Amino acid sequence: MQEKLLNLKEIALKEIKDTLSIEDVENIRVKYLGKKGEITAILKEMGKLSNEERPIIGKVANEVREAIESEITSKKEELKNIEKQRKLLEEVIDVTMPSKKVRVGKKHPISQIIDEISEIFMGMGFSIAEGPEVETVHNNFDALNAPKDHPSRDMSDTFYINSELLLRTQTSPVQIRTMKNQELPIKIISPGRCFRFDAPDATHSPMFHQIEGLVVGKDVTMAQLKGTLNMFVKKLFGEETKTKFRPHNFPFTEPSAEVDVTCFKCNGEGCPMCKGEGWIEILGAGMVHPNVLRNCGIDPEVYSGFAFGMGVDRITMLKYEIDDIRLLFENDVRFLKQF
Ligand code: PHE
Repeated sequence: MQEKLLNLKEIALKEIKDTLSIEDVENIRVKYLGKKGEITAILKEMGKLSNEERPIIGKVANEVREAIESEITSKKEELKNIEKQRKLLEEVIDVTMPSKKVRVGKKHPISQIIDEISEIFMGMGFSIAEGPEVETVHNNFDALNAPKDHPSRDMSDTFYINSELLLRTQTSPVQIRTMKNQELPIKIISPGRCFRFDAPDATHSPMFHQIEGLVVGKDVTMAQLKGTLNMFVKKLFGEETKTKFRPHNFPFTEPSAEVDVTCFKCNGEGCPMCKGEGWIEILGAGMVHPNVLRNCGIDPEVYSGFAFGMGVDRITMLKYEIDDIRLLFENDVRFLKQF
């Protein structure tokens, strides 16, 4: 029996040595030391031994079992290490490999222009005022001195919510809100979205952007309006830019003007950009109408003001040479990432 045990030990140790996987090692353990294992089977026979033989065989059996167990343990350890080594080699990270590009978004071209224009005016001491896109008919038309039969009030030009509310057609109602709520003197600009009932085409969009400007105080003059706008266009379009004030009519300003700037592409010589004119229209402006001041509780005998308004989308299109306003609102990344 002793011989049998030692024999089994030899075979088992050899088998363990030759295994290549932890799974196989485990199978060997079951084969020899498991409940129905070969060593176990021999140990079960021990009862049949004489009293002298039993301790001797018992000792050998124990040694054999321990030898096999310790071999199994170290073999498992060894195999685990090999596996770990293999994984380490396999999962090496090549730090020189080019990384995946993170696509960082950026501001929409219209927001960029709004920021640029706002910076220029803030540099001249203006602060930013905001108003709601859903306005009262009163603020959008009545308080701005628009006659009851003014064509812009028409249902076919304006999005009405009901008889008292509409989507503002201009940023000018912010003038009313500011004059009613702020102390004089006032010096604000107000960028924001406006809405008009226009069918979209290359130059029209039912939603567009304006920046309004308003200065009210004592001795505010037309000369200051001109000076402010001259300074502004030079900063925005370049030092050589000149302005031209053409008489116009707005209900809320008197006198009123449309303001053209020399084409920044051809410097006023005439090119496809300015349609050969040399001038590009970008602003409406004028001295705040006494009725408007009065509607806001300001005495036109003591105070005066000037106001101006410009189309941000149009300026954005001019600056970036975009030929279709719809491109600005389709939000196609291939278009937007150019700016
Ligand atoms: N609100 C006018 C428009 O939409 C522009 C403007 C603003 C004109 C302020 C004069 C003064 O056309």
